[in-house]
Amino acid sequence: MDSDEIALLEHTWFPVARADDLRDRVLPANLLGRSLVVYRGPAGVMVAEALCPHRGVDLTEAAVRKGLLECPLHGWRFDGEGACVYKPKRRPGGALPRQRLVTYPAIEAYGHIWSCLSPTTRTPPRLAGWGGPGWSYGCAKPVQLTGGLVRLVDLFRSPPLTPPMPDRDDPTLLRWPVDEPTGETTYQVTVPACASAQARTPDGGHWLIADFAAPITAEADRVRRFRVVGARGTGAASPPPQPAPAGAPPVADHYREAFARAYRELAFSGPILEEAV
Ligand code: FES
Repeated sequence: MDSDEIALLEHTWFPVARADDLRDRVLPANLLGRSLVVYRGPAGVMVAEALCPHRGVDLTEAAVRKGLLECPLHGWRFDGEGACVYKPKRRPGGALPRQRLVTYPAIEAYGHIWSCLSPTTRTPPRLAGWGGPGWSYGCAKPVQLTGGLVRLVDLFRSPPLTPPMPDRDDPTLLRWPVDEPTGETTYQVTVPACASAQARTPDGGHWLIADFAAPITAEADRVRRFRVVGARGTGAASPPPQPAPAGAPPVADHYREAFARAYRELAFSGPILEEAV
């Protein structure tokens, strides 16, 4: 990837952990070569660099105490903004350390915790039809793949040879509606890192499967794939849509085109410009 593409990825939301894995623990995560920790604080999910600002201790061994992240070496505790708000054996009236933990924005969506390394006006990918009454979902165990984002999207390819239908309002969305025996299935790629398929079956069922890829190395040549499957209704007899079988035509060219559009959209969207280039 060139520097423009990496800049786009730094301003993009990616999943870093499954929400169910979090509980009361500190989870390690990686994004674009940065080592992170994910945990739940009083205000919700938190993502921070896995490096204590005091002596550089690895915080993947940290604990969460009273909603604060506690370093395993000297016990300093950091709040959700990264400020040290507790230091053991501090003299009465003594100042708190000024070193700050690097933190990143974090949200919960589609059963996963998402984060973004640089300020952005973008949002996580939108999965139309997700949620609502009767909707249930489960998240697969994340797996790591070599080959980067394009490889993931290419594996999740649409069976027909027809070109994708770009979304009128969002040029970073590519869609392939396909008539299948179980109803219409729509394959969708949301650049840069989400591939999904969903179907509404004649018996009223609705299935959705989505793969999200998070680049874990600085060059984005290795990704962690997160997968969620959701369903509603009576479609028990109908199988959920599956990624198309091997041998289908690649979508990499469409993907690269949409990636370039996404970068242009980001680079010209105001205050991000100075940071992105
Ligand atoms: S190294 Fe973390 S508090 Fe000292």
